[in-house]
Amino acid sequence: RQRCLTLALETSCDETSAAVVADGRVVLSNIISSQIPVHQKFGGVVPEIASRKHIENVMAVVDEALSVAGVGLTDISAIGVTYGPGLVGALLVGVSVAKALAFAADLPLVGVNHLEGHIFANFLSHTALQPPFIALVVSGGHTSLIQVKDYHSFELLGQTRDDAAGEAFDKIARVLKLPYPGGPHIDRLAQQGNPAAIAFPRALTGQKNFEFSFSGLKSAVINYIHNAEQRGERIPQADLAASFQAAVVDVLVDKTMHAVRQCQVNQVVVAGGVAANSALKTALQEACGAAGLALYYPDPILCTDNAAMIACRAYYHYLQGDLADLHLNARPALKL
Ligand code: KG4
Ligand code: ZN
Repeated sequence: RQRCLTLALETSCDETSAAVVADGRVVLSNIISSQIPVHQKFGGVVPEIASRKHIENVMAVVDEALSVAGVGLTDISAIGVTYGPGLVGALLVGVSVAKALAFAADLPLVGVNHLEGHIFANFLSHTALQPPFIALVVSGGHTSLIQVKDYHSFELLGQTRDDAAGEAFDKIARVLKLPYPGGPHIDRLAQQGNPAAIAFPRALTGQKNFEFSFSGLKSAVINYIHNAEQRGERIPQADLAASFQAAVVDVLVDKTMHAVRQCQVNQVVVAGGVAANSALKTALQEACGAAGLALYYPDPILCTDNAAMIACRAYYHYLQGDLADLHLNARPALKL
């Protein structure tokens, strides 16, 4: 049987990525050109620079994705691209290139929601995984609980009212003068600290909703640091990192378990950059183990932004005949 190959592009933030996936589940190539070193000196992503770097890199990344997969454009069945949510200028680069390729090679074009892509990364790492499940999407831009009913039907149960989980990690890391992105550094530092050392707030827990709020936690940590500095005390960096991280993790686990009970599913899927957090993983393993639930994580390389997850999502759109046309535009605030 002829394999169905999807080529996809991802340029929603600071990674320029292109990938080729076979039959929706097998990664043939997944080229990721990270701009992290470029943005590091600014302590965060600078949108204008991100767009420019995407333009400089995108064609080489597409060429490499095709050559690593050992295929040409004529072997491809459909071209997928992230069209939102994300930085508008960054998204436009991927959308424009995908449209040009689809037009030039006369191929179907598929627009992909970045959040759905993060969830679908799990289908690449777990080839037997099938919906329904609850998805916890935790990244630099999002903190959302989603009920995935099948490959095409998703319900947003709730999301953050303010900062995303990853954003909170990055902001606290910045206050502690750790490099960007701060999540992995907090994670590492926390391993030497006591998570019960400082009692930080766990906002909106024990409530019958699926909303999150991390801005109060962020302020509490920053206040703690300022007060300690004013008293001339040393900042207990590891204890602070561990206690902050425990507050985030407690809330994420509490809300995820509440979603599982309400939706009566027996599978939990985690996605997004913060899925790499070791304390979150341990806590979810414990909670899911105790409740008899199966827990799924993408491989680490598929947790952060990449085009393979977009190619996977594009495949299922393509199967449904759910295609875009050359009017496809970037949608920075695209909803699920
Ligand atoms: O999914 P992603 O690559 O980009 C977005 O779509 O936002 O997520 C990046 C985020 C950053 O905020 C980064 O600090 C966080 O994921 N992150 C982590 C860890 N690894 C990455 N946060 C906590 N612990 C980690 N180990
Ligand atoms: Zn992302």
